[in-house]
Amino acid sequence: MDTESPANGVQADQRRVPKHVAIIMDGNGRWANQRNRARTWGHREGVKSVRAVVEESVQRGVGTLTLFAFSSENWRRPPTEVSLLMDLFLSTLRGEVRRLNENGVRLRVIGERRAFSEKLQRRIADVEDLTANNTKLNLLVAANYGGRWDVTQAARRVVADVLAERLDPAAIDERAVAARLSFADLPDPDLFIRTGGEKRLSNFILWQSAYAELYFTDILWPEFGAAAYGQALDDFAHRQRRFGLTGEQVASQTGVAGDAWR
Ligand code: FPP
Repeated sequence: MDTESPANGVQADQRRVPKHVAIIMDGNGRWANQRNRARTWGHREGVKSVRAVVEESVQRGVGTLTLFAFSSENWRRPPTEVSLLMDLFLSTLRGEVRRLNENGVRLRVIGERRAFSEKLQRRIADVEDLTANNTKLNLLVAANYGGRWDVTQAARRVVADVLAERLDPAAIDERAVAARLSFADLPDPDLFIRTGGEKRLSNFILWQSAYAELYFTDILWPEFGAAAYGQALDDFAHRQRRFGLTGEQVASQTGVAGDAWR
């Protein structure tokens, strides 16, 4: 255990690894523009950071990693950029499947995939099938995903289950809604990272991030490698997660202030 004491007095346990990390990978366009290159080049370079963060997650024992690859709002970008992002998504899935398997990574896509081409939907389903038995890391790629979309589709499922008499309206509680969200079988994000300097959630995972620790960095996504990711994980190890309790209550329950409590 690392006994280093930062300003907030919380003892860091470097073994305290988040079970689920969610990342908004922002800054590809600006990184490319700073180098007088097209924004799309920044997205291509961004794939290298995806690889580094996936491998570091496996090394460190992060159970689930969710990456925001394409939001429901990204369709409004110039058609050439949308089309490049789709091609990149397709080619990355094709090119990375072997490496994902070697690293024991199970890939799943969350979001409204019916908006994608047939070819892309087939490729997604193939990679999901091929990696389905891997257990080292759940890699969730959020594509055409929005936090409000997720809550809305869960609400639709609640209504369908009520109409089919599988669910008693009086039994609708937070648990019933949460059970119908995307990735209901996986833990909620503990750590929510956004690169690229902006400090907002941009309709990424909303309901499930209710208790996530937020971490913002100015580093642009193509420069966010294993070292920068490690810093974010180390920062998390110093956070005291209280989930509504007082710091004293958390300390007395866990022995070490800063241990996760649920
Ligand atoms: C945000 O940067 C980034 C995106 C909208 C796309 C991210 C996609 C990748 C990194 C590649 C594909 C990933 C996978 C998992 C297959 P931005 O364009 O908003 O940058 P800016 O804020 O500088 O304009």
